[in-house]
Amino acid sequence: MKLVRLRAPGGLDRLELAEEYPPKPGPGDVLVRIRACSLNMRDDFAVQGKTPLADGRVPLSDGAGEVIAVGSGVEALKPGDHVVSVFYPFWLNGDMTPSTRRDVPGDSFDGVASEYVCMPAQAFTKAPDGYTHVEAATLTCTAVTAWRGLVVCGKVKLGDTVLVLGTGSVSLFALQFAKAAGARVIATSSSEEKLERLGRLGADATINYKAVPDWGRAARDLTDGRGVDHVIEVGGPATLAQSITACRTGGHIALIGVLTGFAAEVSIPALFSNQIRINGISIGSRADQEDMIRAIDVNHLKPVIDRRFPLRDIAAAFRHYGAQKHFGKVCLEL
Ligand SMILES: NC(=O)c1ccc[n+]([C@@H]2O[C@H](COP(=O)([O-])OP(=O)(O)OC[C@H]3O[C@@H](n4cnc5c(N)ncnc54)[C@H](OP(=O)(O)O)[C@@H]3O)[C@@H](O)[C@H]2O)c1
Repeated sequence: MKLVRLRAPGGLDRLELAEEYPPKPGPGDVLVRIRACSLNMRDDFAVQGKTPLADGRVPLSDGAGEVIAVGSGVEALKPGDHVVSVFYPFWLNGDMTPSTRRDVPGDSFDGVASEYVCMPAQAFTKAPDGYTHVEAATLTCTAVTAWRGLVVCGKVKLGDTVLVLGTGSVSLFALQFAKAAGARVIATSSSEEKLERLGRLGADATINYKAVPDWGRAARDLTDGRGVDHVIEVGGPATLAQSITACRTGGHIALIGVLTGFAAEVSIPALFSNQIRINGISIGSRADQEDMIRAIDVNHLKPVIDRRFPLRDIAAAFRHYGAQKHFGKVCLEL
């Protein structure tokens, strides 16, 4: 089988295409023929050596394919099932604990950039009905994050207004889930062309955050001054103050991303006097993924896919992702 291993200390030129024997499933395992993967910012950090991985680690957390064989004791999955990987295989449901967040594919153990992977069965769920493998491979990290931020923690409801920032995958999935939940969506982008595409995806109003630096106020104005009910906050230090401005009294911020850095200065009175609820989001549990997939099936949602690359062009795929021109997921086909 073909696979990719990342050699220490990382860097795109340290992604090595290898040929090895496929693994065999032990008790409780599934053997999956991976057909597609997708890239995330955390993979980009790892592959560039910014968050170093063990030498020879197979990268990537997001993958989808077909079950080839199951080990003894596996009942939930069977050969032929189309499946998608789970980000935290040991966080089955409920609240995250230190022991359930311990292992992540492509990080603390080998990931899915490999034609065959053998993992405990709980590291996969069934894929949505009728999804291609590429479509399914988009869901593990950013879709589950948007779902947990908006639906599980945000408890979005009919008639709410949701503000999504930029056109990264978390924001595009949040837009789709918000529309499916009967909410109104205000979306931002730095690109006029992407703003048009956001409109075609269902955004009710759009703001160019480069042209309108006070976009938090602009979003609030679009709600007749009431403020938005939810912000999908992916920007970090450069966006958090505007996200707080955009929120209604008692509004909710799903704190997710670090697109502009890691440390922010915030006005504590602006938070407490407006009773703003901030939820830190770290992807989601296996049960969150299963719930999300049920919602995708019922609402016939399809992910936005930007571009596909063959596995051997993984470095080119990361270069494309790093240029930040994409709209939707950057995927690999195996
Ligand atoms: N906490 C978690 O569980 C979790 C899970 C997944 C991802 N994340 C984080 O969430 C963030 C987004 O992830 P993603 O996968 O959606 O990223 P992505 O697909 O790489 O997002 C890229 C887009 O972000 C937008 N952006 C960049 N700077 C911005 C700014 N100052 N204001 C608003 N938008 C800005 C740009 O949109 P335009 O081109 O339209 O301007 C850009 O195209 C990342 O920091 C990622 O690490 C966190």
